[in-house]
Amino acid sequence: MAASKAFALALLLCALSATCHVAISAPASSGYAPVPIKDDFLSCVVRSVPPRLLFAKSSPAYGSVWSSSIRNIKFVSEKTVKPLYIITPNNASHIQAAVVCGRRYGMRLRVRSGGHDYEGLSYRSDKPEAFAVVDMSQMRQVRIDGKLATAWVDSGAQLGELYYAVAKATPGLGFPAGVCATIGVGGHFSGGGFGMLLRKFGTAADNVIDAKVVDANGRLLDRKSMGEDYFWAIRGGGGESFGIVVSWQVKLVPVPPTVTVFQIHKGVKDGAIDLITKWQQVAPALPDDLMVRIMAMGQDAMFEALYLGTCKDLVPLMNSRFPELGVNPSHCNEMSWIQSVPYIPLGKSGTVKDLLNRTSNIKAFGKYKSDYVRDPIPKAVWEKIFTWLVKPGAGVMIMDPYGGKISSVDEAATPFPHRKVLFNIQYVNYWFGEGAGALPTQWSRDMYAFMEPYVSKNPRQAYVNYRDLDLGVNQVVGDISTYESGRVWGEKYYKGNFEKLARTKARVDPNDYFRNEQSIPPLLK
Ligand SMILES: Cc1cc2nc3c(=O)[nH]c(=O)nc-3n(C[C@H](O)[C@H](O)[C@H](O)COP(=O)(O)OP(=O)(O)OC[C@H]3O[C@@H](n4cnc5c(N)ncnc54)[C@H](O)[C@@H]3O)c2cc1C
Ligand SMILES: *[C@@H]1O[C@H](CO)[C@@H](O)[C@H](O)[C@H]1NC(C)=O
Ligand SMILES: *[C@@H]1O[C@H](CO)[C@@H](O)[C@H](O)[C@H]1NC(C)=O
Repeated sequence: MAASKAFALALLLCALSATCHVAISAPASSGYAPVPIKDDFLSCVVRSVPPRLLFAKSSPAYGSVWSSSIRNIKFVSEKTVKPLYIITPNNASHIQAAVVCGRRYGMRLRVRSGGHDYEGLSYRSDKPEAFAVVDMSQMRQVRIDGKLATAWVDSGAQLGELYYAVAKATPGLGFPAGVCATIGVGGHFSGGGFGMLLRKFGTAADNVIDAKVVDANGRLLDRKSMGEDYFWAIRGGGGESFGIVVSWQVKLVPVPPTVTVFQIHKGVKDGAIDLITKWQQVAPALPDDLMVRIMAMGQDAMFEALYLGTCKDLVPLMNSRFPELGVNPSHCNEMSWIQSVPYIPLGKSGTVKDLLNRTSNIKAFGKYKSDYVRDPIPKAVWEKIFTWLVKPGAGVMIMDPYGGKISSVDEAATPFPHRKVLFNIQYVNYWFGEGAGALPTQWSRDMYAFMEPYVSKNPRQAYVNYRDLDLGVNQVVGDISTYESGRVWGEKYYKGNFEKLARTKARVDPNDYFRNEQSIPPLLK
């Protein structure tokens, strides 16, 4: 029983924040009518962008285009501050035009790739303001160079499209990024991006080798023309702040012909608490080929593993390092790496073709928070944590062990500073239906307060891709986000790298054109 509940959870975690998708590539059938041209920004943009790629609030398709990739239904609401315009470029030149016109006529832009931002910052504003959205979903080509083991991927591609294209063109190669197929490359790589290969190959951003970016002056830059500090900043410094990333060049990574997955459930009654207590020290020290993460929900803990090798090698390895979990051949599911990608969230019903599906019907509202743990949490505290997991409004804890490659990269090598830690915690709270959010939201805040003594301190670290506006928002003075207000949340996401991010921002966007509630403020002095 516990097993089926937690299995449903795994399935839910990728699907839960997805909304009904209305294809935006079919304007004719969705009631498209030309946008009435009545303001300066729009008449400027329309000189370079075909009108069928522009949507104003009065366009019949506006609502379906706006909500097309919203993954947190909390923001599909009358109250949400929505963009005046949505531009769906299919060429970098359209993005350049949007920036040039936006600067000229005072229209801010927010960028959306996959729309998974937990706080919806890619398509809504927290306070009334005029802005337009550049929605990248029409730009999602993946071009693989099998000889060099590299790929160029457009920001609007979803991770599943990248994984699929890589496996199809070069079966011996893969790419290390997030677990859910519908995540957009644009936002995900901008914040780091990690999944089941993090211990072997680090974050997605660690594997980016070039990028094409439209800067605040509307120039299209690559690594060479943007320079190394700018290139450093876009690989983990969070989306939005440094311009619009059009595409990324990544280094593909070798994967063996056979990988092994297991998903083992242990209830508190079966010793889950002892197992987690030990896991904290075992999992971050395992060989890099093995990732064993935990999803804890109610009184159940699921130990989920991806091993880059066969069952024959995995079982003795687990039995020497973590015999208490009792792994035996009946737990093993052997498959190719690409089959493991849908298998992990969807189980046996997941197929490789699902990686291309941009649609989902499940509607959930969510609140998410994150922590990093540097020292093992005592067993007595885990006992308390499991009492929290059955309180009203309780969420799920997903724990990803670090160690291996992700931890071997220097803290300052990229803006993503979370290297010398044992594991990441993500607190996931979700609910269905407007008005049902009070209890889960309160739980997430109370749980976060409870965990404070046991997690990283000075600063308490958090992962920018698990966006959380409770950590703080920018204050704008004289039309510039202040460095002091940014430090409050920024040092949690970036530690000592925050200052360099702010100095880089001052060089590439001193007027703070690209901004949102948690964009990097320019450090001007
Ligand atoms: C169901 C689900 C599962 C997840 N699983 C994982 C996981 O396994 N691992 C993990 O690391 N994270 C995970 N995340 C978090 C995810 O990595 C972040 O939400 C990420 O930012 C999403 O990228 P996006 O393009 O889909 O989002 P968006 O909402 O489109 O963008 C996120 C931010 O980046 C900016 N941005 C988007 N595109 C660009 C661009 N082209 N140029 C510049 N800025 C841009 C946006 O303005 C916004 O600020 C998950 C999220 C969800 C909802
Ligand atoms: C994109 O726009 C540029 C500049 O206008 C043009 O040269 C190029 O052919 C366009 N590319 C595509 C794929 O349409
Ligand atoms: C895509 O996923 C949705 C929701 O899970 C499902 O209804 C639909 O049938 C899927 N489409 C394809 C082509 O598999």
